[in-house]
Amino acid sequence: MRFHVSATAPAQAKADALVCAIVERPKTLSKVLAALDRALEGVIAAAVSSGELGGERNKTVTFHTGGRLPAAKLICVGLGPAEKVTLEHARQAAATAAKAARDQAAKTVAFVTETFGVARTKPADVVGALAEGVLLSQYRFDRFKKKEEGAKKLGEATLLVPAAALRAARAAASRAEIVSAAVADARDLVNLPGNEIWPETLARAAQEVARKRGLKCEVLHGKALETNKLAGVLAVGAGSTHTPRFIILEYRPSRSTQKPIVIIGKGVTFDSGGLSLKTGHNMDDMKCDMSGAAAVIHTMAVVAQIKPKFPVIALAPAVENMPSGTASRPGDVIRYASGQTAEIANTDAEGRVILADALLWAKRYEPAAVLDLATLTGACVVALGEHATGLFCTDRGLARRITEAGAATFERVWELPLWEEYERQIESDVADVKNVGGRPAGPITGALFLKKFTEGLSWAHLDIAGTAYIEKERAYVPKGGTGVGVRLLSHLIANWKSRPTKRVARSRR
Ligand code: BES
Ligand code: ZN
Ligand code: MN
Repeated sequence: MRFHVSATAPAQAKADALVCAIVERPKTLSKVLAALDRALEGVIAAAVSSGELGGERNKTVTFHTGGRLPAAKLICVGLGPAEKVTLEHARQAAATAAKAARDQAAKTVAFVTETFGVARTKPADVVGALAEGVLLSQYRFDRFKKKEEGAKKLGEATLLVPAAALRAARAAASRAEIVSAAVADARDLVNLPGNEIWPETLARAAQEVARKRGLKCEVLHGKALETNKLAGVLAVGAGSTHTPRFIILEYRPSRSTQKPIVIIGKGVTFDSGGLSLKTGHNMDDMKCDMSGAAAVIHTMAVVAQIKPKFPVIALAPAVENMPSGTASRPGDVIRYASGQTAEIANTDAEGRVILADALLWAKRYEPAAVLDLATLTGACVVALGEHATGLFCTDRGLARRITEAGAATFERVWELPLWEEYERQIESDVADVKNVGGRPAGPITGALFLKKFTEGLSWAHLDIAGTAYIEKERAYVPKGGTGVGVRLLSHLIANWKSRPTKRVARSRR
């Protein structure tokens, strides 16, 4: 889909569909809407007074313009009660209207962005949200389906803005384009079935991002995993003929002396449970178990384009968790690079086992912060459902930044505790820690296992088990892989007020 920002006046815009937003039961029409209403000889005002155009959230009403405007149709989309409109409502409304236009066989669509105004919000931020809503709403995963003749598809979307707002709007829209493309790429990786994506193909996806965006990519496998003592990756990957990889993607601005941010993603390309085999119930969903890796790999594409002043490093331990004669057994004990030992009491709690390697690895960068994203526990799905990612954090400042980024992007997080009282559940009789802690507080004991490997780090763990893969379509998120994390991490990194390292601070004094 081609995508533009333009200062064309709405009444002059040529498109199959012109889109305006309208608040719930408006007392008067906004200035732009009133002008369009005059051109349409009062049909909008009439529809408002009859109640047909009620402005209910995400409800669309279509008018044929009958040649009274250059646009063939006007689609009005509801924002809900005026005093409650948020950026997310605008994002959803744009997405809903874009889908309605597409379903009505429109090829070109133009959005009157002024009608989407949100109180106390910069117009450019509204434009950014609308661009995201439009772009993300058009995502489809149809590569394994027979090509449909004449499938409905938007060819071109234009955001109409006042001339004075053009510059800021273009910048916001181009950021949204970068981020939305990365979200779509992450969704693709998640939606690819387990027979299309293995550790080696996940690594290839990372190398492809590196090649396209000028990043450094290193992939460890075979002997290199052993020499680097990546014991968790080796143990979990031992059962599969598709051998494990440890993926490292680096963005390093030249001459930067600042500390990096490290983002880590769980990359289990398929989670059968291993010898602690899962039941057949929803096992097919376990192709989503590399959603964390997909998010960090494609966030790096965004990073490479927005070019922060500090380094950003993505780590993705990639394995296929399979049962076989070479697989790890429940009860096996492994020794990490740090010398710490872990009892693998249940081979289905594999995410934490491979993430521990990545957390230990992250320390070599002396990072400002480390975030890991993982579809870690079914219990997190039970606790928070599809609408919130579980957050665990050892640094109040970092937790605040993440919570803010979550709110701004609507990839919301909800914090759960890391209280030491829960640690008893993961005490092992034979090793320093056990990889399962029983049914109570499943997401917390999973996070506490990880915490054992984060000494000295400012660290956050995001359990995306509920948010990475959804059952019910939303305005701009289809069923299946959501790409969750890409928008949150991109926002966090773009707004990170970086601190210089101590050494630099001193030399400047
Ligand atoms: N990948 C799963 C968690 C998961 C479940 C993600 C549902 C997305 C949707 C993880 O590896 C797992 O199997 N966790 C176990 C942990 C248990 C054995 C302590 C679980 O949640 O049952
Ligand atoms: Zn898993
Ligand atoms: Mn598992």
